[in-house]
Amino acid sequence: GNIYLHRENSRGLNLNIQSQYQPFMEKVTAFKDHQWHGGPVVNGETLTTGQVNQVVSPQDLSHQVGHVYWADAEGIEQAIATAHNAFPNWSRTSVEMRASALEEFADLMEEHRHELIALCTLEGGKLLQDGIDEVREAVDFCRYYAQEARKLYAYEGPLMGPTGELNELFVQARGVFACISPWNFPLAIFTGQVVAALVTGNTVIAKPAEQTSLVAYRAVQLMLEAGIPGDAIQLLPGTGAEVGSKLSSDERICGICFTGSTVTAKAINRALAERDGAIATLIAETGGQNAMIVDSTALPEQVVQDVVHSAFTSAGQRCSALRVLYIQEDNAERVLDLLQGAMQELSVGDPIQYKTDVGPVIDEKAQQGLKDHIAAISEKGKVLGRAPMPQETEKGTFVQPVAVEISNINELDKEHFGPVLHVVKYKAKELNKVINDINGTGFGLTLGIHSRNESMAAYIADMVNVGNVYINRNQIGAVVGVQPFGGQGLSGTGPKAGGPHYLYRFITEKTRTNNI
Ligand code: NAD
Ligand code: ALA
Repeated sequence: GNIYLHRENSRGLNLNIQSQYQPFMEKVTAFKDHQWHGGPVVNGETLTTGQVNQVVSPQDLSHQVGHVYWADAEGIEQAIATAHNAFPNWSRTSVEMRASALEEFADLMEEHRHELIALCTLEGGKLLQDGIDEVREAVDFCRYYAQEARKLYAYEGPLMGPTGELNELFVQARGVFACISPWNFPLAIFTGQVVAALVTGNTVIAKPAEQTSLVAYRAVQLMLEAGIPGDAIQLLPGTGAEVGSKLSSDERICGICFTGSTVTAKAINRALAERDGAIATLIAETGGQNAMIVDSTALPEQVVQDVVHSAFTSAGQRCSALRVLYIQEDNAERVLDLLQGAMQELSVGDPIQYKTDVGPVIDEKAQQGLKDHIAAISEKGKVLGRAPMPQETEKGTFVQPVAVEISNINELDKEHFGPVLHVVKYKAKELNKVINDINGTGFGLTLGIHSRNESMAAYIADMVNVGNVYINRNQIGAVVGVQPFGGQGLSGTGPKAGGPHYLYRFITEKTRTNNI
């Protein structure tokens, strides 16, 4: 095929159109009482040994979604050995075959989108719209990395050299990659990591987050159906302490592709440094302390719409989500007044209802941590808005969306991963201090700017050290190939997911000099 063909992103659905809404809802809700079962997948077979875990819905802890077996020591060893032995063959398959398998997998995900969306909602507590976006992003990763891999491997490297000597450069896969993913994008990030490693010719052991093993299990089944060989992709559900740490200390693993918290990324980095064997590759996409700076020229109505979307979509459980809104004093009264009203209109509840704006947080541990944080900051700072909490939310792990004034971003001890917006007012003359304070956190993931002063927006965008800057819009929902995504400093190592350089970290190169 033509490797430079124009690529389109997956189309998704617009549920505001009745003719799309009706059949969509029927097909998704048909899975409401479905029971899913999964476990480790090694060499194409599902293992049913090890600890069985019941999976319940975050929005209703009495609703059982199914069960999953977690990998035991024997399963982990089998998976590593299988992936290790499969590497010589898989890495020598043609890139065309690997890329076509990704495209087939993407088509299968679109075909099974209703089930996958239902599962994201029931197991992961995601809204329907989030579920639609998950499938779209996962599909986009497959098609985009398929295209990028074809380009990468199309490189023909005859190089300059003395007469009689042929110098060539070859792209090669590295070995066995462990892909360790978080629960907040249980399909999209899980898929993005795995398919990037596979399409470049590596074999893979995927370790999904313990909270969302079933989504990962369904995805792996579809990968196998798409023609990815069973020995090239292994799935190991289980805890980070058990499965994750075994993977990062095993010298047969050539690299780890990780997305999750900064604390875990550092633990993995230490484990990789301490193990025997080759120096491993680490790709880590981690947390953020994301700010938005709103100056006096910004349009209050647009600001509020984008603030609410950035802070409370997915119950604030996006690494990109807005955590700290910096608002210039001259604009504060109007913006905060509108914000309070907008928060009153937020509908918190069952994510499978289309009207819901904010679903539950992932589990009871997360819920308790967020409640403690909100109680502590609300004692010190003024509460600027809260969403109403219907009674049904008592059944699950919901957290009331809240906006609280604080004096400075430094007051936050860590990333608070939920529907909590912190607000700081600043004076025009303090802008450089605001920029220094944001940079001083050491995180650098997303930044929102609202200003109609173009040079002001350009100045702030230049001065704040982040991976993704969004001007006069919301700051979440990066699109594959359009907004390559990833941070700096404590927020990650790069390269950017969904960007043209991502695959380079999964390959190595060989130069061959031949005296012909
Ligand atoms: P987490 O760090 O707790 O877990 C992530 C994964 O690491 C899970 O699969 C977990 O089991 C595993 N793990 C835990 N301890 C481990 C260890 N010692 N060794 C190996 N693996 C281990 O993160 P989470 O709570 O699942 O996800 C939320 C976090 O992810 C937030 O901090 C969020 O900002 C971040 N995130 C970042 C991005 C990004 O692209 N930058 C995207 C999504 C989420
Ligand atoms: N890529 C995800 C977003 O931009 C994390 O929200």
